[in-house]
Amino acid sequence: MGVLVVNSLGASVAGAVEARRGEFGTLADGRKVESVELANAKGMSVRILALGGVIQQLQVPDRHGKSADVVLGYATAQQYVDQPQYFGATVGRYANRIAAGKFSLDGKQYQLEINDGPNHLHGGKRGFDKVIWKIESVSAGSPARAVLTYTSADGEGGYPGKMQVTATYTLNDKNELGIEYRATTDKPTIVNITNHSYFNLAGEATPTDVFGHRLTLFASKYTPVNDTLIPTGERRAVAGTVFDFTKPHTIGERIRDGRDEQLRIGRGYDHNYIVDGEAGQLRPAARVEEPQSGRVLELLASAPGVQFYSGNFLDATSTGKSKRVYRQGDGFCLEPQVFPDSPNRSDFPNARLNPGQTYVNTLVLRFSAAP
Ligand code: BGC
Repeated sequence: MGVLVVNSLGASVAGAVEARRGEFGTLADGRKVESVELANAKGMSVRILALGGVIQQLQVPDRHGKSADVVLGYATAQQYVDQPQYFGATVGRYANRIAAGKFSLDGKQYQLEINDGPNHLHGGKRGFDKVIWKIESVSAGSPARAVLTYTSADGEGGYPGKMQVTATYTLNDKNELGIEYRATTDKPTIVNITNHSYFNLAGEATPTDVFGHRLTLFASKYTPVNDTLIPTGERRAVAGTVFDFTKPHTIGERIRDGRDEQLRIGRGYDHNYIVDGEAGQLRPAARVEEPQSGRVLELLASAPGVQFYSGNFLDATSTGKSKRVYRQGDGFCLEPQVFPDSPNRSDFPNARLNPGQTYVNTLVLRFSAAP
């Protein structure tokens, strides 16, 4: 990795979180992929790639202070371009699905790429995850910070408006990784940007799945889907169903319960939960505890919803950083976002962005260890 970036006075400060900029690798077409690493003195560090703003590595200490990488991902940059799982990536312009890839704004209909059955998913074939972002600035301190930017041309992926996007990553000495997405546009458009990390708190290199992780979701309702994973429009109470994580349950406890039609459709959990409390405010969305290591992840989010995806489509066709073959349930995603297909549902949170407005989506991944 490259040089140590110190604070603006040119000195390292006690308690300050380090920041380094370096080179990660080269794509098949010869383009270089830079990276940024933020590391605190508590054993936590994150490596972010300019490609897709991918969180390629996330080291987190367990209850004995031993750090392990807790996100799935690849060893080389090219694999992120070739494979469809969105490991650790920034997804956009519209994360999640839009039915038939169609939406209209001010009476004009737009057709996006169809890349997931009959629907549009995660911004299409060349979404925000597949492009190289500009590393705008990197600074050590408390928190340390990396700012990445990307300009999406008018019409890119079928979306109207030239969009300026900023992704800011911060790491402090309390083991909190913050991510904030901001976007502006020059024409009315739609937007929904999130991070698509797959977590395994036991450690990516351990041969265990995530079914033993204990999950709490601060959500009393979710949005059921049709058989192509598009919300039906219903906001269904989780109470009394296998979707109820308002009290902790292991991810695996009820995941094979085929009596629930929604679990059958998703081949597990692949659903948008409506986070309790007020959207726009950073509030608890989820807590996950891995009993063996003691690692705990708390997710705070400002978004109205969180997609809980239990890695159902991992099918042993990709090999990870530690040479592990990823299979169903080897990682889980918690993706703070507006609801899927919101542009086609006036009763869902608004995904529209007008010129002069700034879209903001903020999340905090707070790590700790239970005794
Ligand atoms: C979706 C899954 C999809 C996955 C792709 C998730 O956000 O909800 O249905 O298969 O992304 O990696």
